[in-house]
Amino acid sequence: AQAEKAGYKHFMLKEIYEQPRAVADTISGNLPWFRGEMPIKGLGNFKPERIQIVACGTSYYAGLVGKFYFENFARIPTEVDYASEYRYRNPVVNENTLIIAITQSGETADTLAAMRLAKERKAKVLTVCNVIGSSATRESDAVLYTYAGPEISVASTKAFTTQLTVLYLLSIHFAVRKNLISNPDIYLEKISEIPSLMEQFLEEEKKKQEVKNLADRFHKVSNALYLGRHVNYPIALEGALKLKEISYIHAEGYPAGEMKHGPIALIDENMPVVTIATKGRVYEKILSNLAEVKSRKGITITVTNESCKEVIENSDFSIIVPETDEFLSPLINVIPLQLLAYYIADFLGYDVDQPRNLAKSVTVE
Ligand code: G6P
Repeated sequence: AQAEKAGYKHFMLKEIYEQPRAVADTISGNLPWFRGEMPIKGLGNFKPERIQIVACGTSYYAGLVGKFYFENFARIPTEVDYASEYRYRNPVVNENTLIIAITQSGETADTLAAMRLAKERKAKVLTVCNVIGSSATRESDAVLYTYAGPEISVASTKAFTTQLTVLYLLSIHFAVRKNLISNPDIYLEKISEIPSLMEQFLEEEKKKQEVKNLADRFHKVSNALYLGRHVNYPIALEGALKLKEISYIHAEGYPAGEMKHGPIALIDENMPVVTIATKGRVYEKILSNLAEVKSRKGITITVTNESCKEVIENSDFSIIVPETDEFLSPLINVIPLQLLAYYIADFLGYDVDQPRNLAKSVTVE
């Protein structure tokens, strides 16, 4: 097993470092349909009136980011459901609905059940999956693959960023087919920069170990709050989930703007607050949320860009990530949060790749 880890201490760390390659492969693997000249195999000329995304766990958070993509670029109303909830809410779904099931393994029981219900109600089902020939791929009308390669660590990392990659490409594809975008190559160029930006951050971290040092300092905390807005709100949720899953520290992810309706009551000098505060339309808003945390003496840890001086000044600790297009920033911003959870769990001496009570794929409902 040591050989399979390619010199990394755990599969999770190896898989975090594989992300530049995984995203690059996912872009090239999906290029044949991306420009929208031809329909996706299995979809024909189907034009979805609505999209419903069903998924579980980390894949669900990818879906939450996907909603921003489908609505902003393709102007298709999009709902995102936990697969385990979808079935029981008697969803409004018909032959004009596209169901997108997002599943790394393709074997998650709740996701399969949600797909089956939607199929019964005549929806088209497209699966975004990492495992060729899995149950989900066999049961759907269309399949788009992520090219993450086998993900061994129970906590998902490279599957997530490759799912975001597919969802982004798919939203641009639909936008082209609806004549909302005429030059998809502009978007392709933007996402094609992501692997090297990821690489840049990961190589810097190897040298400077800033995230690792932060983990060393904070691994004994018992709570943490993660905040983000817009496309980085789901990234706050994912950062908190990663910490919970492998370090067993209680963490909550929240949309930063909702903080004053509850979680702000939790903030004191013992509460680390990890805020995603990179460049984008909500930058000024995040800045004021940060000030709210600071004035209650919370420990402010930010994921931000070098040019975000006000954020850096208002942070006790900043993790600097390369600047990129705001819609693609989740692919970069999630990496320090994955590493933070990883190093905290490792400092605590836990079995990072096999956390207690969790399974890589949950095949029971
Ligand atoms: C389990 C795994 C998670 C994963 C979730 C959904 O809970 O531990 O890492 O995100 O299942 O799995 P799927 O294979 O459907 O993406």
